[in-house]
Parts: sequence; C-alpha cells; structure tokens
Amino acid sequence: MPPTKTDLLASDVRHLIHPLHSKAGHQNAHVWVRSHGSTLVDADGSEYIDGLSGLWNVVAGHGRTELAEAASRQMTTLPYCSGYTGSSNLHAIALAERLAQLTYPSINRFFFTSGGGESSETNFKTARYYFRQLGQPDKNKVISRQWGYHGVTLAAMSATGISSYWTMFEPRVPGFLHIASPYPYRYEAPDGISPGIAAANELEQKILEEGPETVAMFLAEPVQGAGGVIVPPDDYFPRIREICDQYDVLLCTDEVITGFGRTGRMWGLEHWGVEPDMIQYAKAITSGYFPLGGTGVSDKIADVLDSGEDVWMHAYTYSAHPVGCAVAMANLDIIQGEDFPTQAAEKGRTLLDGLKQRLDNHPHVGEVRGLGLMAAVEIVEDRQTKAEFDADEKVGARINQAMQNHGLFSRMRGDVICLAPPIVITDQELEQVIDAVTNAIGDVLGA
Ligand SMILES: Cc1ncc(COP(=O)(O)O)c(C=O)c1O
Repeated sequence: MPPTKTDLLASDVRHLIHPLHSKAGHQNAHVWVRSHGSTLVDADGSEYIDGLSGLWNVVAGHGRTELAEAASRQMTTLPYCSGYTGSSNLHAIALAERLAQLTYPSINRFFFTSGGGESSETNFKTARYYFRQLGQPDKNKVISRQWGYHGVTLAAMSATGISSYWTMFEPRVPGFLHIASPYPYRYEAPDGISPGIAAANELEQKILEEGPETVAMFLAEPVQGAGGVIVPPDDYFPRIREICDQYDVLLCTDEVITGFGRTGRMWGLEHWGVEPDMIQYAKAITSGYFPLGGTGVSDKIADVLDSGEDVWMHAYTYSAHPVGCAVAMANLDIIQGEDFPTQAAEKGRTLLDGLKQRLDNHPHVGEVRGLGLMAAVEIVEDRQTKAEFDADEKVGARINQAMQNHGLFSRMRGDVICLAPPIVITDQELEQVIDAVTNAIGDVLGA
C-alpha cells in the first residue's frame, strides 16, 4: 500500500525544513504528487488550479514533454561540466547568444546562476567590481524599494524591501538602502507632482543623502511581484533612468518574475521604453523544470569585465549548467513559438476584467490591479480610509484557505491575493480562478 497523505505529512514534519518554515503555517499542507497543464494534484486526489504557476515560474504549464526530453537528452549526452573560465558548453553558448537577441540592444553578455537570489548577489558584486575597476571603490551601495523582493540570501535579503524577511536575521549587510515603492494605491505624492515622478524623485533624494560617490546600483522589479503585484505609474521608470544617468548609478532590473512574457511584453521594463544597465532573470527561463537563473550586463560593463586586470572572483558550481541551459533553450522555443507575451496580455485582460467586474464594488476590495497575466486583489477593512484589517483577524490566511476550498492554490502578501497562473491557462480555467477568488472573499467577508 502506498503511504497515505497523513503518513506522508507525519514524516514531513519530522524531517523537513521548508522555505519560510513555520509549523503553524504547515497545517493543512498539500503533498503534490502530479500535475498537468494548469492543474496540481494532491496526494489525497484533490485537484487545484495552480494560481501562481508554482512560484511564478511554470509559465509553459505542467507536463511539457519537450522540456523533459531536452533534459533527458542532455543528461545522457553531458550531464555536467564546469562553466568556470576555461570551460564552456554548447547550450550555454547558444542560450547566451539567444538572450543577446531577446534582451535590450546594449545587453549582450550573460552569466548563469541557479536562481533569483544568486542573480541578485551576482549583480551586486558585478556593480562593485565595475566601480572598483574604474577607481571608485567607495561607490558600492545598493538602493532598492519597499515591497521589493530580490531573494533571501544575506545580501539579497538586505535588498528585499519586506521587513518580515529581516526581523530574525538582523543585522543586514551594510550599504543596502530602501526608498518607498511607487504603489499607486497607497503612495501619497505632494500637491502638484505626479505620484510616479514623486516616487522616482525619492531615489534622487536618497542618492544625494548618501552621496552619489557612494551609490553603485538601483535595483527594481518592473512590476513588484511578491510584494503584491504593484504596477508603477507610467512616468516612474523614465524618471528613474534620468536620475541613474545623472548620478552614474547602474539601473538593474529584476525581471525574475516579469521576464519572458509574463507582463504582456518579453521584458517588463519594455512597457516604459526604458533600457537598464543590468538585468536579472530566473524562474520562467526554464518554466521551473530546472533551477536556472542569471544576469545580463550592458556593453560598458562587459568592457570593464574584459579589460579588468583583476579576476572577477565570482562563481557557482552550477553556473551555465548544461542541462539547465538545454531546458531553457527548449522552453524559449515554447515561449517564442507560442507567443507568450501576446497570450499573457490577452489572458491577463480577461482575468483583470473578470475580477474587476465581480469585485470592484465589494465593500472590502480596495483595489483590483495587474499587468499582463499577473494580478492582485487588495483586501481592506475600510475602502474609504484604505485601512487594513487587524493582523490578528488573519483575513488573508482565511481567504487563502477558502480559495483552496474552491479549488484554487495561490499565495497572499498579507491581505493581498496574488495571481499569476500559467500562460497556457485556458479561458475556462480563468473563469474558475475568477469564481474561486470571488467566492472565497464572499465566504470570509460576505458577498
Ligand atoms: C523578483 C524576484 N527576484 C528574486 C527572487 C529570488 O529568487 P530565488 O527564490 O530563486 O532565489 C524572486 C523569487 O520569488 C523574485 O520574485
């Protein structure tokens, strides 16, 4: 007899430490055993729509045999080789060449990691190396934003702007600073200035406070994902670019969630016609079928890397993993062949319109927002004041459980429901998502 879900969970709690480990939070846990398309299957046989594409990554959906075959082919040909200087492999070369075509004209050089946090670390160190080579070793600080998420290794955690990630792990790495998020629903700009410009000007103010000669990098997600799907005003990033140029601060965009079509464009920042100096990506590059991430840098940074006399002493055993790069190549065939940016734009509109139609007048829905196929519903106690529910009421956790009762598995940021289903989701499944969210809010807060 195979073990029951109860047996499995009994062993799980004895032996596993989970990301964001919390014994209380693990009650009613699932043990996923199978998946297909946009559906996850629990060990007790129940099925759920994968409302967040795993962790924002399974864009091509579950059960893509092309990706399994690409991994299998590579594993039987060359399962691993070093990617360190002096070694390379076919798929890493092909993937870097392909990314040079897919990213911005000035970004043509790529480094591969195993995920998002390692990509953040890589970019912090590259920015430091760059300014050190240019004779400005004091230019090493990183500014990022409240509600930003950039991973939780120690330096990445210090850039992450969600304080609950820091509390038990202080002190943070020095030299990581935060400014406010350009959060249209909550940001209050002074009279006579648009919220987008005012929020961007906070970067200038912080650079001036710290001294421009000490600030290396501004790190930002085009749309803040884990922080609650926060879409900036249209004038925000153009002004950010101006400020970074003026003070010689590298603009690094964290496209770990937004990259590869999620927002309706290949890269999130394309919405605002702005080019970064550095990018980082992960998740959707392999649709989660293999842990792979990476960075890309502009030609001016690549020139310094090439001309620097000092070795860039940064590396991971799994950099440019041949299996990961092979899976990424097969996955990019899907993303480009099935035109994921267009699909995300169209399906995202259906999702957002559906949610707005059903929820815009709900007395506890403060805002329904999104871009492409990522959306959020922000629950508030009072729509007039935008006051949140007392945390002790656990409204978010209760809504999350109710969504699961209605067959939808996703994640919350506090009382904000986050949604980013696989880009292959069907229209019928999108309707199920909209029903599940609406019914769950109704169950907890009344219709
Ligand atoms: C924007 C962003 N950056 C970085 C990360 C960290 O990635 P990882 O969990 O692979 O370290 C995440 C993870 O959700 C993310 O959303």
